[in-house]
Amino acid sequence: MRIPAFDLSRQTRQLESELQAAIAEVALSGQFILGPAVTRFEQTFGEAFGVHAIGVANGSDALYLALRALDIGPGDEVITTPFTFFATAGSVLRTGAHPVFTDIQLDTFNMDPVEASAHVSPRTRAMLPVHLFGLMADVDTLRVRFRGPVIEDAAQAIGARFHGQWAGAVGDMAGFSFFPTKNLGAWGDAGMVTTKTPGLADKVRMLRVHGSRQKYHHEALGINSRLDTLQAAVLSVKFTHWPEWTARRQALAARYTAYLKDLGVSEVVPPTIPSEAEHVFHQYTIRADRRDALQAYLKDQGIGSTVYYPVPLHLQPILQDLGYRKGQFPHAEEASRTVLSLPMFPELTEDEVDQVVETIARFYGHGGTR
Ligand SMILES: Cc1ncc(COP(=O)(O)O)c(C=O)c1O
Repeated sequence: MRIPAFDLSRQTRQLESELQAAIAEVALSGQFILGPAVTRFEQTFGEAFGVHAIGVANGSDALYLALRALDIGPGDEVITTPFTFFATAGSVLRTGAHPVFTDIQLDTFNMDPVEASAHVSPRTRAMLPVHLFGLMADVDTLRVRFRGPVIEDAAQAIGARFHGQWAGAVGDMAGFSFFPTKNLGAWGDAGMVTTKTPGLADKVRMLRVHGSRQKYHHEALGINSRLDTLQAAVLSVKFTHWPEWTARRQALAARYTAYLKDLGVSEVVPPTIPSEAEHVFHQYTIRADRRDALQAYLKDQGIGSTVYYPVPLHLQPILQDLGYRKGQFPHAEEASRTVLSLPMFPELTEDEVDQVVETIARFYGHGGTR
């Protein structure tokens, strides 16, 4: 048995000729920097989610440019979660501002909006909730308690909804990542900033080309962070498929959860789906007793799995200057000790899901198969 944590080649094979044609079109056009393929993808993406969309080089830059568009910089504080990928806090530090961590809710892995508001200080300029693993954070509750700007880290949450509203459309700004393994994945690095405010969209467009609106005239210190044109062409092809891929992820997640329950695997806590939310299962992440031993057993049986994230950000060596200590964010720390993301990608088969669950059940000494 060999069941990988993710397998991009299955998707590439399905779309091979369409993708090759899209790449060839860009190559023959000779327009490799921005150009019509990027504009087309920005328009399609923006229309789908009711936002302005600005293509950038990756999701990390998307967050950085969103913060910069809001003039966040040295002396400012941005409240975010310690249980996320490094880029969330890294983007804040790149602006010169200070990330302030707030603990997560253990069941959703997302920022606790009530606790977050307790960290607001006169220097707080924004909140940066993360929609982790494809489940949106509760931005509505956050907004009731915090009147300043909210920037969504939507890197893992394309197509997710909360109270019917799309990820990327509930905050003042949002950053998406199209890293190849994301729910919408490019063939390299790519990202998108979204906002409903035309002035902020315009500012990001200026900042992504060295702070220039008119060629060779620079009004701000920007960066070079454009969505690569070949990636835009790949993403335009794949974008027509994300609703069916999301539905597939949701069906596979439901199967995992139901079968874990059927087999009585009480040592594992499956992911929570709040009633307000549409979870898009970028990851299917369980909390497991004896997590490391379970992961080693799965590996031994040919099953891939991943620990996102083994070290919460407040305990990362590079962030020690922020002055946090072990024990300060108990939910984030417990999540780091217990989480395990099981194989999850749209092309995974039902049979593979069943085999993963049966292997987990065997590890904990539960018998039976479907
Ligand atoms: C939560 C989160 N934020 C930010 C990023 C950064 O995106 P990228 O890798 O495209 O820079 C990622 C993805 O890697 C992510 O998962």
